Amino acid sequence: MSNLDDRMWATMPSRRSFLQRMGLGVGVLGAGLFGGLALPESVLAVCEPPGNPGTPKPWRKDCRMILPRRPASTLSAAEITQLKDAYKAMRALDSSAPNDPRGFLRQANVHCWYCGEGTQVHFSWQFFAWHRAYLYFHERILGKLIGDMNFRLPYWDWDTPSHRKLPGAYTDPNDNSNPLWNGTRNMDPTDEIPEEDVGEDVMEAALTADTFTEFGGTASGSGIPEGTPHGAVHVDVGGDMGFFDSAGKDPVFYAHHANVDKMWSDWNKASSIHTNPTVTTFLNLTWNFYDENKVWRSIKASQVLNHDTQLRYTYGPSKFLEQLPCLLDWFPIKTDWRVSQTLKFAGQTRAKMMKVVEQGGRARLHLNELAVPTDKSAVYRLYATPEAAKADEGPGSKGYLGTVPVVLNDRERRHLSKNARNIAVRLSTAKLEALSGTVGPVRLALVERGVKPEARKVIPVRAKDVLLSVAEVEREER
Ligand code: C2O
Repeated sequence: MSNLDDRMWATMPSRRSFLQRMGLGVGVLGAGLFGGLALPESVLAVCEPPGNPGTPKPWRKDCRMILPRRPASTLSAAEITQLKDAYKAMRALDSSAPNDPRGFLRQANVHCWYCGEGTQVHFSWQFFAWHRAYLYFHERILGKLIGDMNFRLPYWDWDTPSHRKLPGAYTDPNDNSNPLWNGTRNMDPTDEIPEEDVGEDVMEAALTADTFTEFGGTASGSGIPEGTPHGAVHVDVGGDMGFFDSAGKDPVFYAHHANVDKMWSDWNKASSIHTNPTVTTFLNLTWNFYDENKVWRSIKASQVLNHDTQLRYTYGPSKFLEQLPCLLDWFPIKTDWRVSQTLKFAGQTRAKMMKVVEQGGRARLHLNELAVPTDKSAVYRLYATPEAAKADEGPGSKGYLGTVPVVLNDRERRHLSKNARNIAVRLSTAKLEALSGTVGPVRLALVERGVKPEARKVIPVRAKDVLLSVAEVEREER
């Protein structure tokens, strides 16, 4: 990495050294999170759960009606008022009862705690299940605070091209008289999430992943959508949303994650082979949350897998599900990346991939265990050549492949995860042609988006492995 300062690449202080700095042994925290531990002031002040919760009561069941979560931009005036009232009541607790775990800042701190400071649910198979559980308790608390357990969280359907602005309720009025507003956002009410972060190619690459490992990750690595679209939207909204320790302080976080949760739901629906992990190490993952009555609960991954029957909400239709091509299995195509750190894209590989795509099938490029700069929260663009990266002409330009977001833990530039980052991008015909047009081996490169030409730093891709894959389209009549 000649053009990068080593500090930027330093992997995170490991969990061990972090805990040692905090004066805690690994075993202590691992054994019983929050079990009345005397944590150092610095952590307490940051985001430790309030009180001494003791032994959690297991969550058992929910008897609410099964009701839809709806797109935030289609809420009626009355529903918007209700949503605002709910967050207003939650925010009121911050001053009237600062230790009430249902208060808005306390809720935001749950994310902070689970996303680095106390434990880490990102970049692994905990990602989808943990956030689902978190939103579930959050939704029930909001419902309780307005005396209506039929309240359901809205979702920000940024995958719908006409809904890429912040949903209106969250910006109207765009000041602190609006309980859904957050003054730190970089995004203005008229800005839109870029197509390259949430568009069809991105959604398709995730929703057609045929194993949970690819979609939702493993015990130690992320699935495809955790980066783009999920992380990219965090960076695009910016401000508090741009860092895990503060993201929950922006009410739009919960609408964003409801849509991320819907992606999981849609992925499950997209094919009968899209099944969740069945190993007990996954099913028994257990997390603790305060419920709407301030009762400290434990809930397991196995209890959130069916949101309709277990958690009592549904999602509206997805246009992607209707449009998804019916693909046969994905075939991985090995490359010699591990040997040469470059990709030869010629001869048979090229011919085979072109043919599949021409016949309506799909091709992807996978970057496994991708290393990224961790000096800032940012969106990087992936290009087929350093020259294309330097020019950074964006989507549709020659050599452009996709985006790679980096969301840091906090503004102190910490990146509290050692887990692997795995990404995949769809290779359209144009992208395949750009790869083929490259003379010699492909030298993949990243460049931060939105940086002026003179300040642009081209970053050669460093990844444990780079693979290609193809899936032919099902030919039977449908
Ligand atoms: Cu726990 Cu979108 O982050």
